[in-house]
Amino acid sequence: MNELFDVKGKVIVVTGATGILAGGAAKYLQKNGATVVYLGRNQERVDNAVTEAKSISDACMGLTSDVLDEESLSKGYEEVISKFGRIDALINGAGGNMPGATIGPDKEIFDLNLDDYSKVMDLNLKGTVLPTLVFGKAFKEQGHGSVINFSSMSSTQALTRVLGYSNAKAAIDNFTRWMATEMALKYGDQVRVNAVAPGFFISKQNKALLTNEDGTFTERGQQVINKTPFKRFGKQKEIYGAIHYLLSDASSFVTGTVLAVDGGFSCFCGV
Ligand SMILES: NC(=O)c1ccc[n+]([C@@H]2O[C@H](COP(=O)([O-])OP(=O)(O)OC[C@H]3O[C@@H](n4cnc5c(N)ncnc54)[C@H](O)[C@@H]3O)[C@@H](O)[C@H]2O)c1
Repeated sequence: MNELFDVKGKVIVVTGATGILAGGAAKYLQKNGATVVYLGRNQERVDNAVTEAKSISDACMGLTSDVLDEESLSKGYEEVISKFGRIDALINGAGGNMPGATIGPDKEIFDLNLDDYSKVMDLNLKGTVLPTLVFGKAFKEQGHGSVINFSSMSSTQALTRVLGYSNAKAAIDNFTRWMATEMALKYGDQVRVNAVAPGFFISKQNKALLTNEDGTFTERGQQVINKTPFKRFGKQKEIYGAIHYLLSDASSFVTGTVLAVDGGFSCFCGV
């Protein structure tokens, strides 16, 4: 592989590694020679991910932790450092919406459940900030490291129904810029923080919202397609290249950016 894009031997911690986008990217990076730490909340799902990862190479390990649990993340940090000696990158893939935090079509804005709103804010914002503070310590020690956060189309445009999720993802954009600046000023130009902003990819969370059982689009799915110049949803593997680029030396002068991977959704006004 062109050495600009070489990720061989990089130790990469991936949260949400049992999920669709981050999990797929984790396996892709391992196939390209990276050492990958699969972090997920559920022991059985982490074990399954690691079993699959072992069929790629032995350069992997699993960590079971909630991204909101500082103590268990810190324990995980120690385990990774003791096993691999360093951490080159962190992908903050854990996140998503929750049904209770969504304002259904038959509901009023005023029906918003503030507890569920807070849970979604916590998962998507604090669930990125906390792992960055825990695993990012390695970047200070080493003088190098890269963080990739997950933003969303909802961070810059109003996406109906999902207030908490949108507020949190807007904060992710801000956090990405803030942390990129702070890390570079304090620890130098080898520490970078960026984000990817996926357009609409089918995942477990949004499948029923966007598609019917027969594979046709729901009304909301059709609205998304109408505003996507490519006229389709993203395919899982279409996020890998952006992540690969942001992790590699090919992006060595890139920090604080939010890279849209969206088939043109964010540049099209819909008309
Ligand atoms: N799929 C899309 O269209 C899309 C679009 C924009 C942004 N995103 C973002 O991309 C990221 C990955 O989403 P995905 O579509 O692959 O969803 P996914 O549900 O497949 O993956 C999310 C993962 O996060 C894990 N997770 C949730 N809460 C956690 C917690 N407290 N601690 C640890 N892990 C936890 C889940 O178990 C799951 O494995 C999310 O941040 C999501 O908001 C997805």
